[in-house]
Amino acid sequence: MTPDRPRWREDFPVRWDEDHYMTRRELAKFLTLGSGLLAGVNVLIAVIGVNERTPRAPLQRIAGADDIPPGGSLLFRYPTADDPCILVRDISGSLDAYSQVCTHLSCAVVHRPGERTLACPCHKGSFSSTDGQPLAGPPTRRLPRIVLEQRGDDIVATGIEV
Ligand code: FES
Repeated sequence: MTPDRPRWREDFPVRWDEDHYMTRRELAKFLTLGSGLLAGVNVLIAVIGVNERTPRAPLQRIAGADDIPPGGSLLFRYPTADDPCILVRDISGSLDAYSQVCTHLSCAVVHRPGERTLACPCHKGSFSSTDGQPLAGPPTRRLPRIVLEQRGDDIVATGIEV
């Protein structure tokens, strides 16, 4: 051991001529590209998440256009067999459809044509049968609306507005 060199230099020698130097410009370029790559991956994950949450509802024939008289209603399932819905024809003749699941605690709502409401018997909740908005009782959110189209003589469900 030479007296002017500390012992650790002999134990852990650094060969500076073989070491790889990185300039500030290279480091800045690396950090910029790395940050851009991470931001791009975040945007991609967000886009995939939004697409997966968007419900893809199928087209489904619900009834014939003349099957439901004014004040009448029809139960159906949409978009899957596990999703009960109700189609109501108002006394004025307009057709609307909603999820039959109450937005409070998921009891099934029933049509009350004279009151123009969909009533929930569990906690006396009530929704408008013309727009699905809550009118009385504990529910605070409207019923999801089933988007309807008339195609020829058929009433067809085309989607859901949550
Ligand atoms: S479940 Fe419908 S009002 Fe409570």
